[in-house]
Amino acid sequence: MNVTSDIKYIGVNDYSKDLFEGLYKVPDGMAYNSYVILDEKIAIMDTVDVEFTNQWLDNIENVLGDRKPDYLIVQHMEPDHSASVMSFFNRYPDTTLVASFKAFEMMGNYFGTEFEERRIVINDGDKLVTGRHELEFISAFMIHWPEVMMTYDSRDKVLFSADAFGKFGAVNTTDEIKLDKIELEKNWIDEARRYYFGIVGKYGTQVKRLLDRVSQLDIRIICPLHGVVLSENLQYFINLYNTWAGYEPEEKGILIAYTSVYGNTEKAALMLKDMLVSKGCTNVVMKNLIRCDMTEAVADAFKYSQLVLATTTYNADIFPPMREFINDLVQRNFSNRRVALIENGSWVPVASKKMREKFEKCKNIDFLDNTVKILSVLNEESVTQLKKLADELIY
Ligand SMILES: Cc1cc2nc3c(=O)[nH]c(=O)nc-3n(C[C@H](O)[C@H](O)[C@H](O)COP(=O)(O)O)c2cc1C
Ligand SMILES: [Fe+2]
Ligand SMILES: [Fe+2]
Repeated sequence: MNVTSDIKYIGVNDYSKDLFEGLYKVPDGMAYNSYVILDEKIAIMDTVDVEFTNQWLDNIENVLGDRKPDYLIVQHMEPDHSASVMSFFNRYPDTTLVASFKAFEMMGNYFGTEFEERRIVINDGDKLVTGRHELEFISAFMIHWPEVMMTYDSRDKVLFSADAFGKFGAVNTTDEIKLDKIELEKNWIDEARRYYFGIVGKYGTQVKRLLDRVSQLDIRIICPLHGVVLSENLQYFINLYNTWAGYEPEEKGILIAYTSVYGNTEKAALMLKDMLVSKGCTNVVMKNLIRCDMTEAVADAFKYSQLVLATTTYNADIFPPMREFINDLVQRNFSNRRVALIENGSWVPVASKKMREKFEKCKNIDFLDNTVKILSVLNEESVTQLKKLADELIY
């Protein structure tokens, strides 16, 4: 598959994993992208997961024929991209490895060699000329590992963006590479958001800084390490990344995330939703944290402007899936949101207090004035509190 006349896609699709990185469901598979830049000198951009080494080496051979690669550029050392480095090097021992100093240190740990004899250590701003193409390396420190480098090809105006702009899901590698509009509408955003907040979300400050830096480049195509190559409407994706990296809500809307043991907290959550809908607020999403995919719930919390948390008091604390959910948000610097609390308890409900405490380190969290306290089951008083909360949520 051609990215440009000189750049070919040589990645692989993984349909065998059920969980990516042990946490993220990938019902549509996962792509480990890799690219070849054909020029006087040939550069390979990253490798693939260990299960697909042979397929990837075949892809290289199919593109190169009798030619041999000159450089292997290792942008990111996470094993989904670096696991085939040794196999590649054994097949092509005359190749020079190009990576950051930190990446070579990691190679020492992973492979037992830092390739001292066959390497170019790159720093931010360094360039590598392969003939017609000049590749500029851009440090992407902590997006989302410390060794990460992105690469800008000024000739074809391509940004190789490492994990940034990636998503879950396999890619169609048979067509000319371009973003399918249907995929954009149906699938890209949700799976890219879940990927971003799951894997990169903690590092918004670093992503912002990088976006400022790359905004000065003339970029026509973005080649990420996962998901489709982006070649149309790039400003749309860059704007989304700016919103996400800035922890700003993407949409005005409400996520009601809840847990319930016996069903009474759930009843309250559903009643609140009905009240909101009857008041004309239609962008309301419910997530039962006991049953739902937690990574989707986390992504939704970052998508919407308001978050309602409803949970049961459990051993003088919060019911465990709610605790996990809030931990996931706090770890990813959840901020700039309105948050409402609903608690339930049969003797001393403390869930609201405990939930509120967990957000202490988060910036710009505006807790709504109305909280709802349920003593086992909804009664007139708690229903009145729910109504007041619904009014406050509609603003
Ligand atoms: C294991 C366990 C521990 C609980 N701990 C507390 C508690 O510390 N304080 C309290 O007020 N209620 C406690 N409860 C009671 C529940 O919070 C209460 O029954 C609540 O109404 C359940 O709401 P639900 O119908 O949505 O599940 C506990 C319940 C269970 C099952
Ligand atoms: Fe990664
Ligand atoms: Fe990755």
